Amino acid sequence: MEVWRLARVLSRTLCLNKSTCGAVLVTSPFLSGGTTVLQGITSRSYSSTGPAVTESTALVYRRHGDPSQVVQLETRKLPELEAKSVLVKILASPINPADINMIQGTWRTASVFNEGDLVTVPNDISVLSAATLGVNPCTAFRMLSDFESLVAGDTVIQNAANSGVGQAVIQIAAAKGVHTINVVRDRPDLQQLTDRLSAMGATYVIKEEMLRKPEIKDIFKVCPRPKLALNGVGGKSATELLRHLQTGGTMVTYGGMAKQPVTVPVSALIFKDVKVRGFWVTQWKRDNKHNDEALRFMLDELCTLIGAGKLSAPSCTEVGMKDFHKALDNAMKPYISSKQILVM
Ligand SMILES: NC(=O)c1ccc[n+]([C@@H]2O[C@H](COP(=O)([O-])OP(=O)(O)OC[C@H]3O[C@@H](n4cnc5c(N)ncnc54)[C@H](OP(=O)(O)O)[C@@H]3O)[C@@H](O)[C@H]2O)c1
Repeated sequence: MEVWRLARVLSRTLCLNKSTCGAVLVTSPFLSGGTTVLQGITSRSYSSTGPAVTESTALVYRRHGDPSQVVQLETRKLPELEAKSVLVKILASPINPADINMIQGTWRTASVFNEGDLVTVPNDISVLSAATLGVNPCTAFRMLSDFESLVAGDTVIQNAANSGVGQAVIQIAAAKGVHTINVVRDRPDLQQLTDRLSAMGATYVIKEEMLRKPEIKDIFKVCPRPKLALNGVGGKSATELLRHLQTGGTMVTYGGMAKQPVTVPVSALIFKDVKVRGFWVTQWKRDNKHNDEALRFMLDELCTLIGAGKLSAPSCTEVGMKDFHKALDNAMKPYISSKQILVM
């Protein structure tokens, strides 16, 4: 059965509707904000025939530093199972920038969770979609829902448009009929990247430099100025996004890849009354810890888009856990345009 191939919980049965679930996501706000883990469930009969699992292979670190130097593969004993524990086999997990920044060491082959920290997702979505669902698409979904009320025909502008978050923004916005102006850094294979983002539904793909050119006004003859700007970069890039917002529009900062502060032009505040906001999906999950409906609604919406072929996983490179050095190195390289996914 597909669900068993996807993943196996090795210890006990969860009372969940098997027809609608085949994998579960860890939602604990206390776990890494940057790592989504795909797991599946199985029945007691399966677990009784499988070997007892008492250990997990994990990538861990004991000091800060260059991730590929300080992270090592270790075998760790799993904790004893308690009444509401679920022992979960983990199949795939992305390396996100937040993991690189913190080196949180949450990549492992199996783990024990409280059943209250797990939510199900349908078993017909791909491993890559499920493994990447909990962070980037959720971030994109929230930013498109919680700051401006967007309707078909509106426009969103974003930088780092080829990031995992950016690709989810493009697809979720396109499904709503919302135009996206997608800003990327120049690179030798720009046309290839532009074609890929356009195929996902990007309305425009432009280079950072274009933000400062008068030609950008041509875009606003075709679609309205953006109500919402999404900033994953900071520095000059963020300031340029702000300049193109419509009066009263909002810029949401969710990342700072350029490691430079955001400067807000005085004129944007006085004459355009723009709103400058921030978003952190981990905080959203904490705030909504007891609001199962909000999380369920978001995951259902995202999984429906995935099922309809409207939301694909970001461009990925699957790397075996043993090759984690290579994956960590690649995750830190610029212009790579491919999310590194550790496959357990
Ligand atoms: N606040 C939240 O809740 C939340 C949630 C998820 C992610 N994030 C943050 O969002 C950002 C993107 O995450 P992700 O997982 O989507 O990333 P990702 O898929 O790994 O992509 C990284 C992106 O950053 C761009 N980039 C790297 N260095 C840059 C620089 N110096 N200047 C401009 N762009 C640069 C890359 O562009 P090139 O291809 O040009 O290198 C690429 O578009 C990160 O800062 C992450 O921590 C925040």
